[in-house]
Amino acid sequence: MKFESLLIHGGIDGDASTGAVNVPIYQTSTFKKSEFENTKDNVYEYSRTGNPTRAALEKLITELEEGYAGFAFASGMAATTAALSLFKTGDKILISNNVYGGTFRVLDKYFKNFGLNYSVFDSSNIEELKNNIDDSVKAIFIETPTNPLMGITDIEEVAKIAKENNIISIVDNTFMTPYLQKPITLGADIVIHSATKYLGGHSDLVAGLVVVNNNELAERIHFIQNSTGGVLSPFDSFLLIKGIKTLALRMDRQNSNTTVVAKFLRNRKEVEKVYYPGFVDHPGHEIQTKQAKGYGGIISFVLKEGYDYKKFLESLELITFGESLGGVESLICHPATMTHAAIPYEMRQAIGITDNLIRISVGIENVDDIIEDLIKSLEI
Ligand SMILES: Cc1ncc(COP(=O)(O)O)c(C=O)c1O
Repeated sequence: MKFESLLIHGGIDGDASTGAVNVPIYQTSTFKKSEFENTKDNVYEYSRTGNPTRAALEKLITELEEGYAGFAFASGMAATTAALSLFKTGDKILISNNVYGGTFRVLDKYFKNFGLNYSVFDSSNIEELKNNIDDSVKAIFIETPTNPLMGITDIEEVAKIAKENNIISIVDNTFMTPYLQKPITLGADIVIHSATKYLGGHSDLVAGLVVVNNNELAERIHFIQNSTGGVLSPFDSFLLIKGIKTLALRMDRQNSNTTVVAKFLRNRKEVEKVYYPGFVDHPGHEIQTKQAKGYGGIISFVLKEGYDYKKFLESLELITFGESLGGVESLICHPATMTHAAIPYEMRQAIGITDNLIRISVGIENVDDIIEDLIKSLEI
């Protein structure tokens, strides 16, 4: 089945017992045991351990990412936390230098308490990655493109280096989704999603997914999921399956709208710089073109020194000023005080998350309306 059809018919297609075209919401905490011993027809016991609506979603994301098994969590951060829980005291995780602020925070302020170390590297520089590897490094965690500066990392190269050194490679695929990029097919071991974003697509849920490429990791992640319990509810699993059905249509429109908005911003006198992997002169453009089917729906841009970015953000009307991304509506945010506030000031300055940096997630509205809103607010 082609990917677009898999989005609609993959996983568990409808409900065999009634013919319903949608997977039912199994809103139950527990299941009646029909026999004393567990059998293969008697797989569900308790909804933290497994739930049929969640299982349909987990099978679907596994097929979409071409992985071995998938797991659904109550948020992207719960998914990241589950993946990082594979490691122990004394281990070290290498992370890209501008990963999502929450990923940095959970390592810096939470896992550090348990002796799990991390070190930050520029993941667009493979030599720097090699130089950072020592015996304590057990995982490489990357995002590509990175949030918010759209840094590109060669997934195949990172996965190769990881394998050579017996290290697990983890890719946060939130920005691209499997419609545009499939890290497991490029050699990665684990894929993570904040499904809150493009996979859900409607800003109506918070969810996270982990997909692994082998049975050993599947057993370990399932153990962590069941033991720590941050599972996705049956209702949110249903909503996410529903959102995923239109992923290809939404992303096609977001990709094309974003190209128009990026070109528009680049030609404005108020704008200093535009970060968009679709530009041929964007660092890593060739790698992005090689490993993904598109450039996604996110643009970051720097407003010129002295320009009143607060007034600009507050005067937008169609574009929503708020956290998050990947919804059908255009969303704009101020990374330094919102998504990346957890990153220390000096580090933010060093990597380019300055106060006049703005990130926009382009929605599926008519692109003329998006441009009109930007013009009006830039000229205010
Ligand atoms: C790239 C990326 N990964 C992970 C997360 C965390 O996901 P959630 O907010 O669903 O916990 C986010 C949230 O913005 C994100 O942008």
